[in-house]
Amino acid sequence: MSGRKTITPTHRYRDNDKAVGVGNAFWDRSEREGVAGIVAELAGGVLRTADGHEFVNFTCCSYLDLDSHPDVIEGAVTALRRFGVLDHCIPRSRVQIPALLELEASLGELWSADVITAISAGVASAGLLPLIASGHLGDGTRPLMAFDKNCHVSMAGAKPACADETEVVTAPHHDIDWLEDQCRAYERVCYVVDGADSLGGYAPVKELAVLQDKYNLLVYYDDSHSVSAYGERGMGYIRANAPILDERTITVATLNKAFGTSGAAVLLNGYDKHAHRVIERFAGALCYSQPMNTAAVGASLASAEIHRSAELATLQGKLNANVALFDSLVDTEQSATSYPIRIVPMADDTVIDAGRRVYEAGFYVSPVFFPIVARGTAGLRVMLRAGQTEDQIRRLGAVLAEVGAARPQVA
Ligand SMILES: Cc1ncc(COP(=O)(O)O)c(C=O)c1O
Repeated sequence: MSGRKTITPTHRYRDNDKAVGVGNAFWDRSEREGVAGIVAELAGGVLRTADGHEFVNFTCCSYLDLDSHPDVIEGAVTALRRFGVLDHCIPRSRVQIPALLELEASLGELWSADVITAISAGVASAGLLPLIASGHLGDGTRPLMAFDKNCHVSMAGAKPACADETEVVTAPHHDIDWLEDQCRAYERVCYVVDGADSLGGYAPVKELAVLQDKYNLLVYYDDSHSVSAYGERGMGYIRANAPILDERTITVATLNKAFGTSGAAVLLNGYDKHAHRVIERFAGALCYSQPMNTAAVGASLASAEIHRSAELATLQGKLNANVALFDSLVDTEQSATSYPIRIVPMADDTVIDAGRRVYEAGFYVSPVFFPIVARGTAGLRVMLRAGQTEDQIRRLGAVLAEVGAARPQVA
């Protein structure tokens, strides 16, 4: 015995023993079986490993393929030349080049919101949620922070920091009655939830709006999976459907999925200059010296222009057609929803072998299985994109049928 103290963690809001202990088994097995840890070059929409294996990625969130759009690439290069610096390293609250302001004005006009950029949605949520918890972003009241059980880890990861400022609870998934009980009991509640779930489905925006109206409920949405892919000018599910878009609704969205660039946008309405300054000065990494760099800003300005053009609707149409084609080939629980993610159900003990066989046939789909998801809910995660060809989707459908997708309907 050294006589020195050992530490017993409280694990009230996070538990790395559990996360690493349980999750690593999943990752080790995935890597051993060759369906994780893959390194490949991308050319013409096809990935190629050093030993010559070629495959099409069907687990990539660039739903409109804007990340390789010539205008987006050119936009990055042009902005670098125009501003002459990749990242002028100093907090923007002190000195900034006009790049971010230009992008925020462009995105603000595009989606009719006040926009604050961040280097990622995860960074935005880690910075904003504790400010909401302390009442500094909101109406001054410390709200009960109710994190939806299924909310993305980039938001759930902020629970310990929020818990130092207020009370934190995990909310049953989309349970409006439960939420109303909390609204009756607490002076103010903030509900933290995905706008579009990464495993499919949308937030109940209309029911939430009733509580927002009745109890001044604040809702913090992460709409990363639907921005660009959904709605006019790619405004996303929340901006297109939420009846209340004022200071009671804050939306964060990555720019790294369908938008096709890098960084994130926080969409706000009804917050004054003072609130914006508080964010700029106190929202964690949003105030450090690394904002979105100039290449990301230039790429994003170019992507915003595509969102203003007729091309956006064409790309959304192609994405929807690809989703419909896949649904006609493979039946999943998500079939016929307007969401580009599908989980092809498989048995726990065969899913990883199926994923490997699909990969060998020239397609990457990520196997998800216990302990990452509950036993009995294993499957192959498929993401449709606008740029996938009909032939690629049909061939994938056939391969999925061969490897034993639970309810295949190969045309
Ligand atoms: C719902 C959701 N939010 C946030 C993120 C992370 O976005 P970012 O990489 O910009 O932090 C992801 C993606 O992994 C996501 O699925």
